[in-house]
Amino acid sequence: MRGSLLLLVALSLSAAPSYYREIQPLLQKHCTGCHQPASKASGLDLTTYSDFLKGGKRGPAFLTDKPDDSITLRYLTAAIQPRMPLGKDALPDSDIAIFRDWIRAGAKDDSPTTTLDTQPTVYLQPPVINSLRFSPDGKSIAVSGNREILIHSIDGKTPPKRLQGKAERILSLAYSMDGKLLIAGGGTPAQFGEVQIWDTNTNTQLRAATLTSDTVFGASLAPDSSRIAVGCSDNTVHVFETATAKELYKIGNHEDWVLSTIFGADSKRFVSVSRDRAAKIIDANSGAFLENANLLKTELYAIARHPSKDIIVIGGEDRYPYVYLLDRARNMKIADDSTLVRRIERQDGPITALDWSPDSKLIAIGSGSPKVNLYNTDTGALIASCTGHAAGIYTVAFSPDSATLATGGFDGKVRLYSTKDCSLTRDFIPVPLSAGAQ
Ligand code: HEC
Repeated sequence: MRGSLLLLVALSLSAAPSYYREIQPLLQKHCTGCHQPASKASGLDLTTYSDFLKGGKRGPAFLTDKPDDSITLRYLTAAIQPRMPLGKDALPDSDIAIFRDWIRAGAKDDSPTTTLDTQPTVYLQPPVINSLRFSPDGKSIAVSGNREILIHSIDGKTPPKRLQGKAERILSLAYSMDGKLLIAGGGTPAQFGEVQIWDTNTNTQLRAATLTSDTVFGASLAPDSSRIAVGCSDNTVHVFETATAKELYKIGNHEDWVLSTIFGADSKRFVSVSRDRAAKIIDANSGAFLENANLLKTELYAIARHPSKDIIVIGGEDRYPYVYLLDRARNMKIADDSTLVRRIERQDGPITALDWSPDSKLIAIGSGSPKVNLYNTDTGALIASCTGHAAGIYTVAFSPDSATLATGGFDGKVRLYSTKDCSLTRDFIPVPLSAGAQ
């Protein structure tokens, strides 16, 4: 009797849906466009098991003892409104049953364990692209992967180099002006944040620093390469010395997640933007707060700077890109909006990615929508819209000659467009997919 009960349990366990093979792909397809680290609708991030478990504003996303009472199922079945996925067709009953059976069977995480060996990551499907950057010589492009950075040649003729590190996720990348260093910011969700410093000549990791208990956002490198700034989900900004990876200081003057940072042209200041709506100007040497660059309007997710001047473009939740001067004329009042140079037209989704072309003529804007828009810096006029992605954009980057725009995001594809007219010059999946992948 006992034996057959065990057998039954074993059978039902083996028949339980797999998080890794079934649940995660469903979440990635239907949910993570809105529930991801850069824009967690209702406080819920569905990109990792640990975040899914943690749940959102309403608490744990599933209850294994009462599967049907789980928030996730109640949203999927419209027991709680608005039904998820928000604004789209309901999931078919068979998919909802996969969630129910998985939760009922204990909601186990069967993802391959993340041991720190040198095994290259195996990809069953293209991962979300959080960041990409051109090398300053224009010959290659660095793309974020899972637990690695992939360096692709622009012509695609040689297989990518794979720079494997500790962090499960790479969320931001930055090259030094001379191209000798590549900086990565990321971490393993709910475990640690990490800043990595790579030698681009040998493709080896020179140094790394871990900080906080969650991934870090928006790593940027000072133009003189001296310092690295990163934003964190504990509302802090940490600044590191590039030469040693030692933390110089941390500041805590934001009131919400800090999602992006950028240094001024002379490396003496940097700006951090946060969901608390502030773009804060900080003295890079001392960490002292100087002033807000903007009049608070909307949650901010992204920032970019003019290639040589202290003019920034910021954007976030309200979908408007704002161009601001970092310096105000002497006799203007604090907290007026006189440093606002321009508000560019509203985008189709919350602004998640910005870049300013090296020739200073163009600003590229990526949002929660699949379209990337290119604007004339001087007039704010739309030049062209780059289409073709299947879902939201997380990163945009100009080539050093400003002729090409690279884009990536939720659909896992890198697309290269001509900045003249947004014609597609190349697209590719930046990771090697294993056999049997869909
Ligand atoms: C288009 C954006 C969007 C998509 C896609 C989406 N959600 Fe949501 N989700 C939201 C918003 C907005 C809320 C807050 C709704 C409210 O309370 O009014 C939310 C709330 C939730 C909550 C409640 C979280 C909490 O604790 O407050 C759960 C659970 C959830 N979504 C699950 C999902 C799942 C599962 C999917 C995919 C099948 C999905 N969502 C797809 C936007 C989205």
